[in-house]
Order: sequence, then structure tokens, then C-alpha cells
Amino acid sequence: MDKSEAQFDETISKAAELVKNARSLIITAGAGMGVDSGLPDFRGDSGFWQAYPLYEKLGINFVEMATPRHFQDDPEFGWGFYGHRSELYRKTVPHEGFSILRNWIERFAFDSFVVTSNVDGQFQKAAFPEDRIVEVHGSIHFLQCQSPCTHEIWENDVSFEIDLETMRSKNLPRCSSCLEPSRPNVLMFNDWWWLPVRTNKQQKRFEAFISTCKKPLLVLELGAGTSVPTIRHAGETLGRRHDATVIRINPREAQIPGPHLSIDSSAAIALKKIEYLLSQV
Ligand SMILES: NC(=O)c1ccc[n+]([C@@H]2O[C@H](COP(=O)([O-])OP(=O)(O)OC[C@H]3O[C@@H](n4cnc5c(N)ncnc54)[C@H](O)[C@@H]3O)[C@@H](O)[C@H]2O)c1
Ligand SMILES: [Zn+2]
Repeated sequence: MDKSEAQFDETISKAAELVKNARSLIITAGAGMGVDSGLPDFRGDSGFWQAYPLYEKLGINFVEMATPRHFQDDPEFGWGFYGHRSELYRKTVPHEGFSILRNWIERFAFDSFVVTSNVDGQFQKAAFPEDRIVEVHGSIHFLQCQSPCTHEIWENDVSFEIDLETMRSKNLPRCSSCLEPSRPNVLMFNDWWWLPVRTNKQQKRFEAFISTCKKPLLVLELGAGTSVPTIRHAGETLGRRHDATVIRINPREAQIPGPHLSIDSSAAIALKKIEYLLSQV
């Protein structure tokens, strides 16, 4: 075994100890958590364009695509991106790491919560309870009026058919009050119209959890990038304000200062390795 392998194994066993000794668990997750289920992250322009080659031809990057402007100017084009993602996230099967986490929550009787910037609903799909999840940037599985003429948020049960040559949606969901095309209840870039009502309710439940959860508190951060660092900051803040220890799992940018722990690995591999050690005792 070379030195780096030995170091990696030592980090995994430290992580297993932290899991074993914790009484509460907060799972924080960014787009990297979905990568092992086959979902793209949008890491840099190249990552985004690899997932959506047409946007490279059009010279549009993720920030320019993820904006409410398209729903106003050209809703078929706006829904081309979000409709495609709605369908993709619906048919995705969450990877084994999700069930390992659910199993720990049960086995160690953790007080637990999920905080994610993902809009893909994969934690709900993996049977994490709805009332123990904060989706800080909203969810693609919910819709709102784009004006908005009403503060209502409703479920996205629309089937989308996307022309992959033009990335335009053949059909459009509409607001039942003003009949204009609606938009996903997702916080986009330069977005002054996003309705935070649903996320605010989730946030309130999370605050109540934080004020009563048992210590030691462990934060397990999975696949959170540096370009939109909301999730990384959330974990670091929990570390400072609530005496939590953070385990940051990321194959490319896992660095975090001590006493927290960095694991340079994909989410599924790290979770499986930690689980292997935990199942030995
Ligand atoms: N699935 C989604 O809902 C989704 C997908 C892409 C982007 N977004 C949104 O875009 C923004 C992007 O920020 P972000 O930090 O979530 O994503 P990001 O694409 O900027 O970064 C992804 C991170 O995941 C890491 N990663 C890659 N493969 C991994 C793996 N197998 N296991 C663990 N980590 C892995 C990368 O190194 C990177 O640090 C967020 O606001 C998010 O809401 C959401
Ligand atoms: Zn409306």
C-alpha cells in the first residue's frame, strides 16, 4: 500500500469514527451528489457544455441559461433546458450512497436533516422524509407564475417533449390564474421573481431542528462546488456556530481546514468505504 492509499484509509476510518460517535447528522449536498447516479454537474463551462452541447454552439453558458429572462422572452427555449432536466431527474435512480445514508439515520437513531442546493428532488426520490429537507434553491418539481400574479406554488406534473436539435420544448406549463407560461420554482441567476415561500417553510423546520438537535453534530457534505459556494458556507457556518464537525467529500476540491475532515473521493465510493468499516463492528 503506498503512502497516499494509507492516508486515504486513515481518513476513512476517522470518518467512520465520527459517524459512530455522532448523535445528529446534517447531510449537505451539491450537484456532485448526483454524479454517481449519472447526473451531470455543471462544473465550469466545459462541464455544462458536455451535458448540453447545443448551448456550446449557441455560446450560452450555465449562468446565461439559468435565468428567468428566457421564460419571459422565449418560454419554449427556457423550458427546453428546465423541461429536459425535469424529465432527466424524474427517471434517475439515486445511487447506493443515498440508501447508505438513510440506513445510518435509522441504525444510529440520528436526529437528521438534509440541506441541498440541488433542485432535482433526488433525496425525496431516495425516500428521505419531505419535512426533513431544505432545498435552498427551490425545486424543479414545483412551478410558479413567472410574473408572479399569484404566490401559489404547485407541483410540476407536466410531461415535456424537447426537440434536442433546438432545445425547445414542444409544450408549456401555464399559470392557471393569468394563463401565461409558468416557470420552475427554482432560484436562478439575476432572479427577482423566485417565490421563496416553500423554501422558507423548509428553512423554518431546519432552524427548529438546529435549536434542539443532540450533540455531537456531524455535517456530511457531498459534492458541493466552489462556484456557487452556498452549501460549502452552510457547513462551515454550522461548524463555527453549532460546534459541528464537517466531513467534506469531493473528488476535486475537498479541502477544508481542521478540525474538519477532507475526503478526496466521489460520494458513492466514500460512503461505501465508510459503511464497510461501520459494518465490521
Ligand atoms: N442536480 C441539480 O439539482 C443541479 C445540477 C447542477 C447545478 N445545480 C445548481 O447549480 C449550482 C451549482 O453548484 P454546485 O456546487 O451544486 O455544483 P457544481 O457543478 O458547481 O460543482 C459540483 C461539485 O461536485 C464535485 N463532484 C463531481 N463529481 C462528484 C462525485 N462523483 N461525487 C462527489 N462530488 C463530485 C465537483 O468536484 C464539484 O466540486 C447550484 O446552485 C445548484 O443548485 C443543480
Ligand atoms: Zn400568473
